[in-house]
Amino acid sequence: MMYHLDLDEKKTKGARFALLPGDPFRSVLIAETIAQTCGTAKPDRPLAHKREFCTYLTEIQGVKVLVTSTGIGGPSTSIAVDELAQLGVHTFLRVGTTGAIQDALSIGDVVITSGSVRLDGASPQYAPIEYPAVAHHEVLLALVDAAKVLTPALGCRYHVGITCSTDTFYQGQERADSFSRYTPRKFQGMTEEWRRLHVLNYEMESATLLTVCHAFGLRGGCVTGVVNNRATDAGGVRITPESLRVGQDHAVRVGIKAMELLVQADRSV
Ligand code: URA
Repeated sequence: MMYHLDLDEKKTKGARFALLPGDPFRSVLIAETIAQTCGTAKPDRPLAHKREFCTYLTEIQGVKVLVTSTGIGGPSTSIAVDELAQLGVHTFLRVGTTGAIQDALSIGDVVITSGSVRLDGASPQYAPIEYPAVAHHEVLLALVDAAKVLTPALGCRYHVGITCSTDTFYQGQERADSFSRYTPRKFQGMTEEWRRLHVLNYEMESATLLTVCHAFGLRGGCVTGVVNNRATDAGGVRITPESLRVGQDHAVRVGIKAMELLVQADRSV
């Protein structure tokens, strides 16, 4: 029995694929969307829900797919990936939300992370900091194919590129409205620096996920929906219920479609 996830192989029934939201309440939303879009039965209860880790067992084209929330940030993400890997999962796809830092990105747009700036604290405990946090090419290609098909109908665009992945939402993303109203010197001007280096967005789990997956020889990828734009929001938290709904929905739909393509591709080998 995995200590944190509260799962064992009897419960996961040989599942090898996992979708990974951050938010435990997003696990049920993804499980319901899979049931709707893939015409499968809606799971009536989670397999397990301990701390921030809420898991549903779903099915895509007859293949078992887990939906497990990672919680926010590197430490809990590393636990989710490590324990799922111990249970035999080989393909991990994060589905989350993000703050854009480039003008060209709009609310509801989808960001497909090709690689991440490792500003987390967990991934250096799995591989030295020189080791890149990059998406597995098969997961990346599935996400791009899924986004090409879906984004015209969703009314948004998709962007592929580098994500800055931090372990803090306020200081590490240079927000002006943290309690202290002070950004430590190391982070002052950082957002402009990332922008000039063509980094697309901020989020908080991809660096850990992608590093740990590659270090384990497993497949990892990340898709997020834009819920605010730091290039236009004057440095504070400007996430509205509507921007959250749209960003979340678009990332979930692209993530599920990409998972469908990965399941299909594995079947045809
Ligand atoms: N998630 C983040 O980490 N940052 C944002 O700005 C929005 C979502």
